[in-house]
Amino acid sequence: MAAAVRPENARVTFADRLIRWQLEHGRHSLPWQGTRDPYAIWISEVMLQQTQVNAVIPYYLRFMARFPDVAALAVVPVEDVLALWSGLGYYSRGRNLHRAACIIMEQYGGIFPRDAAALQQLPGIGRSTAAAIAAFAFGEHCTILDGNVKRILARYFGISEYPGKQMVEEQLWQLAEELLPTMGNHRTIAAYTQALMDLGALVCVRRRPDCYHCPLQADCFACQQNLTANLPVPKPRKTLPVRETIHLILLNQKNQIFLEKRPAEGIWGGLLCFPEIPIDQDGINFCEEHLRVRAITLAHLPHLPHSFTHFKLNIQPLLLRCTGNLPACEKNDEEKNCLWLTIEQALLRGIPVPTRKLLLMTQSYLSPKTHE
Ligand code: ADE
Repeated sequence: MAAAVRPENARVTFADRLIRWQLEHGRHSLPWQGTRDPYAIWISEVMLQQTQVNAVIPYYLRFMARFPDVAALAVVPVEDVLALWSGLGYYSRGRNLHRAACIIMEQYGGIFPRDAAALQQLPGIGRSTAAAIAAFAFGEHCTILDGNVKRILARYFGISEYPGKQMVEEQLWQLAEELLPTMGNHRTIAAYTQALMDLGALVCVRRRPDCYHCPLQADCFACQQNLTANLPVPKPRKTLPVRETIHLILLNQKNQIFLEKRPAEGIWGGLLCFPEIPIDQDGINFCEEHLRVRAITLAHLPHLPHSFTHFKLNIQPLLLRCTGNLPACEKNDEEKNCLWLTIEQALLRGIPVPTRKLLLMTQSYLSPKTHE
């Protein structure tokens, strides 16, 4: 008789233990908690997709103060969104937020779609993010499966293959769905979803998980077999290709810097960047031929490595000074998206992280701190 009830029992226990643990040990005062507003939850979930909680909090607060609802977000140009996103990285998230806001205004009359399947149709909302929004905002019984949850399940079930592999991922979705609490209301699924997130962030962390305080330790395969250091299995590594590039930091006589807006497609799409040239091209010739500006070399700043998912970029920054006060050295051309800005102005615009770092490097080159 005991054997007949075991599977159902085990399933309830997993969710049960997590929920009980969350109430006592989980996080309850993050800025996006305590609301059922799908807009506020959506913004937080998208920001948290590839960024840690502590880094997200100030961006989230600024974003919500500036764009308190979907109408406020849809009405501004995407550049305003990217400016607030600057520094968070993965800018397609910001562009997709804006696109999705416009779709919600135009196709849904400003009302958020109310289930995970419809949410997943919007740009930038994958299956796990859709489930998180639907669970927190609408109490839908659907499961998240982000990187942290994959790690928890890979350890709990002792999955011996890389969880990012498609077949394994499908299996994980199925397991995650089977583990959902079968009963309960909005609060149950919200607490369960938060419990998975909190366990992944606070206990079942990548390195040295705190199994001693884990509510699942008794039947976690990795904990029982002392294999937490080996699970989940890491991604089979390919060495990433390295691309070399030159970024031209062109200063005019007023110490304004030349920036141009990148095309919407490709890396840093829509953001303001320094002109980029291949390493076998001459920076000064490029300025004369393409920017109609005469320049001399001021300095070769230190190389700046930057990693993307599929390749590494090694940026060689070349600091140049315009000679003479030619009109092209100051004129802003909004149509061609070319701007001359002071460093302070540029830092407030939508710029990628390496551009920010190079602006700060240039700032300290121009006014080095004096040491007594
Ligand atoms: N990571 C993804 N979503 C989260 C949330 N709502 N709270 C904390 N961490 C998260």
